Formats: sequence, C-alpha cells, structure tokens
Amino acid sequence: MKLNNILKYGIILGIPALSMVSCVSSGDNPGIEYAPNMYISQAYEPFSQEKKFDNNPNGMTMRMPVKGTVARGQASFIYPNPNTGDGYAISADYKPWIAATEDNVAEGERLYNIYCWSCHGKKGKNDGPIFKSKKIPAPSWPDYQSDYIKELPVGKAYHTVTYGKGLMGSHAFMLNPEERWKVIHYVKSLAFGDAFTYAEPNANLISLDEAMGTNNNTSLDSQATGTVELETL
Ligand code: HEC
Repeated sequence: MKLNNILKYGIILGIPALSMVSCVSSGDNPGIEYAPNMYISQAYEPFSQEKKFDNNPNGMTMRMPVKGTVARGQASFIYPNPNTGDGYAISADYKPWIAATEDNVAEGERLYNIYCWSCHGKKGKNDGPIFKSKKIPAPSWPDYQSDYIKELPVGKAYHTVTYGKGLMGSHAFMLNPEERWKVIHYVKSLAFGDAFTYAEPNANLISLDEAMGTNNNTSLDSQATGTVELETL
C-alpha cells in the first residue's frame, strides 16, 4: 500500500513538475515544441529538390519565371535592337530617356574618366594610353570633335556602348542603361564643346515606356506575351 501511495503522489506531482521543466527554454534549447512544423517552416532550396516530385520541372523547387518576365527595376535593361548590322542601322532611331542636363553630363564625365578615356583620351582626341601604345588601333575618325561623332545619332552610340563595335568591347556590364546615356551625352559635349546645349534641369523627355514602345515596335506588352525574344543588357 505504501508503495502505491508513493507512486500515486509521485505521478500526481511529478507530471506537472516535469512538464513545467520541459517547457522552459534556455539558450539554444527551445524546450519541448509541439508540432514545430506548424510554425517553423521548412527551408526549401530554390534550385534543387530534396524529394522527387514530378510536378516541379528540372528537379527544382522554384518555378522558372514566365518567358518574357522582366525583374522589377530591370525594364530599362531591355534593349530591343539585336546585335547585328541591321540592329545597328535601326538604332539610329533609338531615343534617350535620360536628358543631357548639366548634372547628367557631369556624371557622364565621371564615368567616361573611368571607362573610356584609356582609349579615347580625356578630351576625346583618341590619344588615350591604349590607342597611343597601338595595342588597339584607333578608329578611322580622328577624334570626337570630327564630323563623324558630331553627326553620329545618339542611338547608334548607345548600341555601340551596349554591344561594342569592332575593337571596342561591350560596356553593358559596367554601365547601366541610365549611365550609358549620361556618358553618351558627355561624349557629345566633348564633340560640340561650347556649342553643346544642355537640357533644362527638368527637361521633359520621353518615358522609358515610350522609349521601348516607339523604338521598333517592341513594347513591353508584346514582350509580356512572349512574341519578341529579348535579352536584358
Ligand atoms: C579598348 C578601347 C576602347 C574603350 C575602352 C572604349 N572605346 Fe569607344 N571605340 C573604340 C574603337 C576601336 C572604336 C571604333 C569601332 C569601330 O568603328 O570599329 C570605338 C568607337 C566608339 C564610338 C563610335 C561608335 C560608332 O557607332 O561608330 C563611340 C561613340 C565610342 N567609341 C564611345 C566610347 C565610350 C562612351 C566609351 C566608354 C564607355 C568607350 N568608347 C570605350 C575603342 C574603345
């Protein structure tokens, strides 16, 4: 009988005591958790899959974005003209959506003095160290002040900076689309010198949508339907 009582009281007092102790969390010990999967979600690896699940293509947890999807903030990276002779020709109509304000040209100068001067020279005289060393032959036109650059449509310059041309490499990965326009405005300011006209600080330029839509009929809508194959550059 005595033993029974000890057991009885032991159980009556022991269970609550034990459960209270086991609920206490401390440090790295979370205590006993009830159905933790309900509040701690399992981390899935987006590019792989732990268990075979046929509905997911390519064995990935993540679904590929729909064709033509443009990541947020990346719309301006879509350059609709292909890297071909024809693409270069139609790029003449490609219009800037960044105005040649004094601020933008000043930023263009800063970028030019990082990425371009080593070939084209600080003032666009094609006398940068690389052209001087003749490791890469200078272009056929003598300098930015020549008629060739003065008359070059800015869209063609954008095409060249984006894809490269001849021995000039692509600068797309160094300069985002806005920066490409700024640097091109600076090139034009070097070409025209004092005759260069800056845009008003709040110059009303075409919007990015217009730039995409009016240039060669590749509006973002037609991209969304996947009718146009486009890369972001
Ligand atoms: C490695 C040397 C090199 C660098 C760096 C370089 N260029 Fe050029 N660039 C050239 C050469 C060579 C040509 C002539 C390409 C041709 O017509 O074959 C050229 C051509 C051009 C043209 C004329 C494009 C056309 O459509 O005919 C422009 C504008 C220009 N560069 C601007 C820039 C700008 C802006 C930068 C910096 C973002 C830059 N370049 C960086 C070598 C360079």
